[in-house]
Amino acid sequence: MGDIDLESALVTDDGVLPRARYTSPSFAVLEFERLWSRVWQAACREEEVAVAGDYCEYVIGDQSILVVRSAPDTVRAFYNTCLHRGTRLAEGAGHLEEGCIRCRFHAWRYDLDGTLTEVVDRDEFAPIPAGTCLSSVRCDLWGGFVWVCLDPAAPPLLDYLDPLPTVLAPYHLDRMRLRADLSTVLPANWKVVVDAFNEGYHVQGTHPQLLPWTDDVNLAYEPLGRHAHYGRLPEARRTLTPSPRLGLEPGEYDEGEILESFVSGLGGLFLEEEGAAVEEIRATPSTDGETMLGRYQRARRELLARRGVPVEAFSDDQLTSADDVLFFPNMVGPIYPGSAIVFRVRPDGLDPDRAVKDTWFLEWPRPDETARPVTRRFYPDWTERDWGLITNQDYANMAHVQTGLKARGGPGIRLNRRQEANVLHMHRMIDRFLVEE
Ligand code: FES
Ligand SMILES: [Fe+2]
Repeated sequence: MGDIDLESALVTDDGVLPRARYTSPSFAVLEFERLWSRVWQAACREEEVAVAGDYCEYVIGDQSILVVRSAPDTVRAFYNTCLHRGTRLAEGAGHLEEGCIRCRFHAWRYDLDGTLTEVVDRDEFAPIPAGTCLSSVRCDLWGGFVWVCLDPAAPPLLDYLDPLPTVLAPYHLDRMRLRADLSTVLPANWKVVVDAFNEGYHVQGTHPQLLPWTDDVNLAYEPLGRHAHYGRLPEARRTLTPSPRLGLEPGEYDEGEILESFVSGLGGLFLEEEGAAVEEIRATPSTDGETMLGRYQRARRELLARRGVPVEAFSDDQLTSADDVLFFPNMVGPIYPGSAIVFRVRPDGLDPDRAVKDTWFLEWPRPDETARPVTRRFYPDWTERDWGLITNQDYANMAHVQTGLKARGGPGIRLNRRQEANVLHMHRMIDRFLVEE
């Protein structure tokens, strides 16, 4: 394998990650051949291809995949290449006019189901069999995402995702709607980016401003098949307490301030009305001994129920406790009842030093809502946008990590056995794909 041998780049038995995994161009190529070519990956949201003729391009490695809604209840995916001289058929996202895919070069046309329907001056070609079609890519739907897989031999989508469809069923991700898709390029290996969103250990180092209102220590980490989740899992539900790292005793912090910081600090994840609910709770003392968190959970349950979220499935604690899920290998993010932020991370082409990160904001629609346009932005350089303090801090780390990882003579990476357990799990799962023939 080019600049390194595979064996030397695999996670060791005692859990050390060789640096070449993040920096080697040939490791990136191998990942493409053995990982990205085999896994199910989210190509877009279903609502991005809402009506027949809508399309979305998904790029992974050097491959461009065209996702098309070919009929009201059918979504298909094709290799995005004309059968004539190979031209890419569509880019970005949009709607295919005239109900067909028309190649820009010599105007060959394909039905939305990929069948070649028109060849200009057909009689001047060697016979082209009737029924000739674009090369299809496996495509399936779950959770409101359109998933694609380049491997004809891979297991079906639901087997691949197991047990996430069961674990996440109460959230009904398929009924949420994409509000915004903000994409950027980060100067780091894609795994550096996923790793950073797969653990809470860095909060004390990178986001110290969160410690007064969040307990970053008592987060739970749990592998789920090849996937994983962490966060405020059953044994680690949210409380209105600061980080134990601050060593504050009860009475030395204000629960109301913590609640306010929590709701405004995670603004993108809560309903607009919740700020007002917090203000009211803070302004009116509890009369029956109910805790402040309990009062907020009750208010939140009512607001979510009014929005139409099936809240009966959630305990009070779950209403304020994120489930940070890793959809192996590259989608991670906090999921709450009624909202989610999903980070999808991919290598930028085959470059080990750059990653494309898409941030998808999902929200439960209002009951009377008609389709709303998605805000879609792409920033070739992440510094072109203010992403908010927390994310800016995360992104600012990326170049430092990637640059540092290249240092010659640096040791392999040792992980915190508890707080970085999901990082290790993900890397071990990657290796399974790399070594399996
Ligand atoms: S390359 Fe598409 S029609 Fe010629
Ligand atoms: Fe972070």
